[in-house]
Amino acid sequence: MPSRLVIRGGKTIKGEVPASGAKNSCLPVMAASILTSEPVTIGRVPDISDVWVMADILRKIGVKVDYDPKLSTLTLNAANINSVKPPEHLVSRMNASFDVAGPLLSRFGEAEVAMPGGCKIGQRRVNYHISAFTAMGADVICEGGLVKAKAKTGRLKGARYIFPTSSVGATANAMMAAVLAEGTSVLENSAREPEVADLATCLIKMGAKISGVGTQTLTIEGVEKLHGTHHDIISDRIECGTFLLAGAITEGDVTVTDFDSYLLGAFLEKLTKANQEVIVKDNNVRVIGRRPIAPVEIFTAAFPGFPTDLHPPIVALLSLAEGTSVLQENIFSSRFMYVMELARLGADVLSNDNHIRVRGVKKLTGAPVDAPDLRAGGALLLAAFAAEGETVMRGVRYIDRGYQHFEERFRSLGADITRVNEPLEELEWPDSACRH
Ligand code: EPU
Repeated sequence: MPSRLVIRGGKTIKGEVPASGAKNSCLPVMAASILTSEPVTIGRVPDISDVWVMADILRKIGVKVDYDPKLSTLTLNAANINSVKPPEHLVSRMNASFDVAGPLLSRFGEAEVAMPGGCKIGQRRVNYHISAFTAMGADVICEGGLVKAKAKTGRLKGARYIFPTSSVGATANAMMAAVLAEGTSVLENSAREPEVADLATCLIKMGAKISGVGTQTLTIEGVEKLHGTHHDIISDRIECGTFLLAGAITEGDVTVTDFDSYLLGAFLEKLTKANQEVIVKDNNVRVIGRRPIAPVEIFTAAFPGFPTDLHPPIVALLSLAEGTSVLQENIFSSRFMYVMELARLGADVLSNDNHIRVRGVKKLTGAPVDAPDLRAGGALLLAAFAAEGETVMRGVRYIDRGYQHFEERFRSLGADITRVNEPLEELEWPDSACRH
């Protein structure tokens, strides 16, 4: 049943919330379980729909999946994989599902994986993934919506590959392909995102030989076999940033615990520039919302730059700044669908090419809105918390993809947010036919 959210804005968001495990770390680590016939146990698994789609994909190719909700752990046992072709209808539901290609190819010398789907925020190409597999000695063809890869000699061979631009997914996939290859691989211009480093840490615990973790050059000496392990996922920096912004936008005071501020350096710097009080202590990050919100200039970039996934959420904050902010989106070509929705709440936001201009307004007012993707959903939640009156939001399934138990957690901080499961035709809605 489709859901909508009803948010009554104007409440101050205040209190402490523990960080969840990172979605973008958990998904590739789940895929990495394919690399061994021994069980891999993952701790701090976020209870979000993307994780359950990945679990389904793994189950369908023969991985035994056991979830312990009390401990938030998943145990994945890939001893009896029976297919190198995961079901297309599941793979096409999210981008990260393509992460299974590298491990399948690495362990079984073969993989047939559908072109991935996911949030419509720009081209989500897999050409770098394919080039890296090819460099390692795979024949790859794209046919009928499938990427079909086969190691020429039955086993991949270590190779040097330079990514044309930084790619999180392609680095993860190439690294997983290389760990069981024959010989040494050198991956240059690799993504340095903490989630890629977390995957490398897990692979090393499984017996992989990887050096240069966290740098742009990863050197991987292929091994014959990997073994099982236990790995706790790092904290979700995008979720953390969204909670902190909720404190800032409502003139509240939010502390995210179990969180290493290093993961959000560039973002916290911008929040400080926006006149918000940022306090980092031990493993906690606290933001006290202040007025006026100062306008800032932002360029999204690969880590350690400002994360593209916090672009829509911070624009929600800047929509209430005293002055005009400018943001340049440098990672995804069409992450701008949310602009129109923010405007429904009264924001003065304009997108042009990859630029956003945000003229601060005095207040936002509640309205019916439609989240067009996951992080846009985060932005609309924030704007709705600050808006006067009631916001009714559709597109909740996108938010469910990446924000764990978000209603309960925001409610525990004082937000007035309710999920209603009702047939959509009963709702009165502005015309949105051309939006999907
Ligand atoms: N690109 C190519 N060819 C490729 C791969 C990427 O041209 O083969 C381009 C993309 O089109 C994009 C850029 O490179 O313009 C960066 O893409 P990247 O591969 O780094 O992104 P991703 O792996 O598809 C991950 C996260 C995204 C996050 C980006 C950037 C996961 C599951 N997803 O995507 O997270 O925005 O890195 O940091 O890890 C989200 O969580 O909402 C989300 C979209």
